[in-house]
Amino acid sequence: MAKLASEIEAIHFLQQGGLVGLPTETVYGLAAKIDDPVAVESIFKAKRRPFFDPLIVHVYNLDQAKSLCSGWDPIADSLAKHFWPGPLTLVMPKNSLVSEVITSGLPTVGIRMPNNSVALRIIKQVGIPLAAPSANQFGKTSPTLATHVLSEFPDDMVYVVDGGACEVGIESTIVSIDVGASSLKILRPGVISESQIAKVLVESNLNFKFVISEDRLMAPGQMKHHYMPTKPLVLVNDDLTVEKIILETQQLIKSLPDQEESVKLVKPDKLTSGIEVSLSSQPSLAARQLYSRLRECSESNADFLYFRLRSYHSDSDWFGLMDRLKKAASGII
Ligand code: TXA
Ligand code: MG
Repeated sequence: MAKLASEIEAIHFLQQGGLVGLPTETVYGLAAKIDDPVAVESIFKAKRRPFFDPLIVHVYNLDQAKSLCSGWDPIADSLAKHFWPGPLTLVMPKNSLVSEVITSGLPTVGIRMPNNSVALRIIKQVGIPLAAPSANQFGKTSPTLATHVLSEFPDDMVYVVDGGACEVGIESTIVSIDVGASSLKILRPGVISESQIAKVLVESNLNFKFVISEDRLMAPGQMKHHYMPTKPLVLVNDDLTVEKIILETQQLIKSLPDQEESVKLVKPDKLTSGIEVSLSSQPSLAARQLYSRLRECSESNADFLYFRLRSYHSDSDWFGLMDRLKKAASGII
C-alpha cells in the first residue's frame, strides 16, 4: 500500500530498490534508482505504462548529468547552466550507465535537474540518478500533491514524500539536442518556451536551429490521449449554452472508440450533467491549478467536465497548458 515517508525513509527505501513518490517543481515523480533493473521495471508495472514510453532521469548536479551521456555540447551546457535546476528536460545521446529499459530502446536519454530542494537532497543522498515518470497511472492526470500520488497507487508498495503543492504544475519542457548538427527539437512544450531557449542560446553566441518534431517516435509518450481525468473532459468553443454542451457531449462520447493508442477512453452511459473547469486567466497560475482542478471536478457529482476556450488561450504563454488540456480532453465541441 502507498504511504507517506520522511526524506530519510525515502532515501533508505530507494537504496533498497523501492519506488518513491518524489516532489518536484513540475509534478510528483515515481522514482527508482537507474542501476536497479528490477526497480526500474517495477515503475512501468506500478503505472501500467507500456515499455515503449521512455523515462526521464533526474540528477542533482551537472556532472551527474554529463556522466550519463556519450556526448555533450555547448548548447546543452548553455541550457543546463541557465535553466537547471528547473523545468527543462534535455534529451542527449546516452552511454551504457543508462539501460535501454529506461530509454525504451532509444540511443538517447532525457535528463533533468528538478528545482525542488527535497528532490535534490534525496538524489544526492541516494548517490545514483533516479528514473522518474510522473506518478500517475498511464494516460491519467498527473499528480501535483502528495495525496494525489497516494490515491494513484493504493495497491502498490510506494512511499511518498510530501513536499506540498508543485509550484509549476505541468511537466517539464522536453528538448532534444542533435549533438554535432547544433539542432534542437521541442518534443513536449512546457513553461520554458522556445523563445526563452532561443534567447539564452543567442546570448551565449551559439549557432543553432530549431527543427520541427515530425517523428512521433522521437517522443514516444506524446500520444493523442494523456493526462485524462477519471470522468470525460470536453473543450468547448464559444459561449455554448449548458444544454447544448450536454447534447453535443453525449454525441461526441458515443462516437469515440473504447481505446486509442493504448489508452482506455472513459465512456459513461449517463451524461446528463457537466461541471465547468475554471482556471485563472493568468497562465502560470492556471498551470499550477490544472491537475488539481481536473481531479476535484472528477470527484464531483457531475457526469463530465467542460472547459471553455477563450481567445487568450491561443497566446504563446498558454502553449504548454493547452497541450495538456487538449490531450486530457475527449474532444472539442
Ligand atoms: O516534469 C517532468 O518532466 C516530470 C517530473 C516527474 O520530472 N516527468 C515526466 O515524466 O513528465 P513522464 O514519464 O510523465 O514523461 C516523460 C516523457 C515521455 O513520455 C517521453 O515522451 C519523453 O519524456 N522522453 C523521455 N525520454 C526520452 C527520450 N530519450 N527521447 C524522447 N523522449 C523522451
Ligand atoms: Mg506523465
